[in-house]
Amino acid sequence: MKILVVGGGGREHAIAWRLAQSPRVSKVFVAPGNAGTQLEDGVQNVPLNNIDELINFATTENIDITVVGPEAPLSEGIVDAFEKKGLRIFGPVALAAQLESSKDFAKRFMAENNIPTAEYGTFIDANEAHAYVSRKGAPIVVKADGLAAGKGVIVAMTEQEAHDAVDMMLVENGMGVAGAKVVIEDFLTGEEASFIVMIDGEHILPLATSQDHKRLLNDDQGPNTGGMGAYSPAPVVTPEIHAKTIKEVISPVVTGMKHAGTPFVGFLYAGLMIAPDQSIKVLEFNCRLGDPETQPIMMRLKSDLLVLIEHALNRTLNQVESEWDNRTALGVVLAAKDYPESPRKGDVIRLSAAENKNVHVFHAGTSFVDEKIVTNGGRVLCVTALGENVNQARELALSVSEKISFHGKQYRTDIGNRAIKN
Ligand code: AMP
Ligand code: GLY
Repeated sequence: MKILVVGGGGREHAIAWRLAQSPRVSKVFVAPGNAGTQLEDGVQNVPLNNIDELINFATTENIDITVVGPEAPLSEGIVDAFEKKGLRIFGPVALAAQLESSKDFAKRFMAENNIPTAEYGTFIDANEAHAYVSRKGAPIVVKADGLAAGKGVIVAMTEQEAHDAVDMMLVENGMGVAGAKVVIEDFLTGEEASFIVMIDGEHILPLATSQDHKRLLNDDQGPNTGGMGAYSPAPVVTPEIHAKTIKEVISPVVTGMKHAGTPFVGFLYAGLMIAPDQSIKVLEFNCRLGDPETQPIMMRLKSDLLVLIEHALNRTLNQVESEWDNRTALGVVLAAKDYPESPRKGDVIRLSAAENKNVHVFHAGTSFVDEKIVTNGGRVLCVTALGENVNQARELALSVSEKISFHGKQYRTDIGNRAIKN
C-alpha cells in the first residue's frame, strides 16, 4: 500500500517512520516532510503545499490512505475535500475539527455535553471582557478563539496582565482574526496530561498516555513553547483517571458529535488538568496527535499503525486492541537559537552516530541545503529513547542530545521530572 502523510514536523516523522515499518506498506510519502523523513527507509518527501496539490498527488499516485498530522489542513477541510473525491483519508471533517479550531465552539460543546471544564465567558466586545476580568479577578486565562500555533493562550497571574491580553487581542488586533473573539476562563491548578485516542465515529481506541513540557527552560521556567519534551506513559493517569476520562470526556465527545451530525473520526487529544482531589477538567481539545507526544508514543506502539488506521476507517475500532512496549519512552526536543521568539534558520547540524534500536532522532525543523542538514524551524529535533524507567530513558536521550551539535542548540535536561516526583 502507498500512504501519504501530510505535514513536516516531528509528529509526522514519527507517524511516517512507524507506518513504513508495516509489512503491507510499500512506500510512505510525506508532504512536505523534513530532512529526517528524507533519510528514512521507505519514506519519500513530496513538495506539496495545498489541498488541491495533495488531492492531485493522491489521485495520480494511487495513494491508498492519507493521514493528516497538523490542525491547519483539518480546519481548512482537507478531509471533506478528499472524501468528496472518493479518497480515503484519516482525520475529522472541518465541522468536527472545530473542537480545536474554535475555543468558543469547544467550550459550548463541552457545556452542552456535560464535559467538565473551567467556567468561562466568550467576548468580542473589549469592555464586556474587561468587566468580566474585573469581576472574576486573577489569576485568569485569556484565550484567542481561533488557531494561533500555540501562542493564543495567556495565563494571567494579575488582573493587569489579563486586561492587557484583552486589549492586545480585541483592540489592537494582535492575533489577527484568531483573536477577534476571546474565551476567558477560570485558572485551574493540578497536573496536566495528554490523553489521546483514536475514534472511528462510534468506537474509541485509547493510545498510551503521555505528558508534555511546555515551558522553554528547566523547572518549568521561561516562555511557553509548542512543547520541549514528552514522555509516555504518564503515571498521573492512573487506571481510575483513565476510566473517568473515557466516561466523562471521550464518550460524550463521540455521542455529542454523532448527534450533531458530524461524527468524529480521527485522533482526538484531550489536554487534561488533574486536580489533587483526582477530579479532571478539559483544558483543550486537539483534533490530531500531539507534538512532541507522538514521538514517545510511536516508540512504544507495538501494533501495526496501518492496521489501527484501517479499523478506524472501517468503523471497526472495537475489533482491535493496541499493544504497547512496557518500557518508558522519553523525547527531548532540541530547539533552535532564539526559539520561541524568532528561531534562527540555516545552522548546520552535526548528527551523532549514537542511534541504536532504543533511540530514534525524529526531525522537525530541518532541511537539506547543499547536502548538509540545517536548522529550518523552532523545534529542530526530538531525541527519543526507550528505557526501563523514566531515568534510564532520559539518560539515554540526553547522552545522544549532547553529541548532536548546532549553533545555539537549546534543550531541557529535566524532561520526565514530574513522573519521577510521582
Ligand atoms: P491550551 O492551548 O488551551 O491547552 O493552553 C495552553 C496551556 O496553557 C495549557 O497546556 C496549560 O498549561 C495552560 N492553560 C490553559 N488553560 C488553562 C487554565 N484554565 N488554567 C490554567 N492553565 C491553563
Ligand atoms: N504538545 C501539545 C500539542 O501538540 O498541542
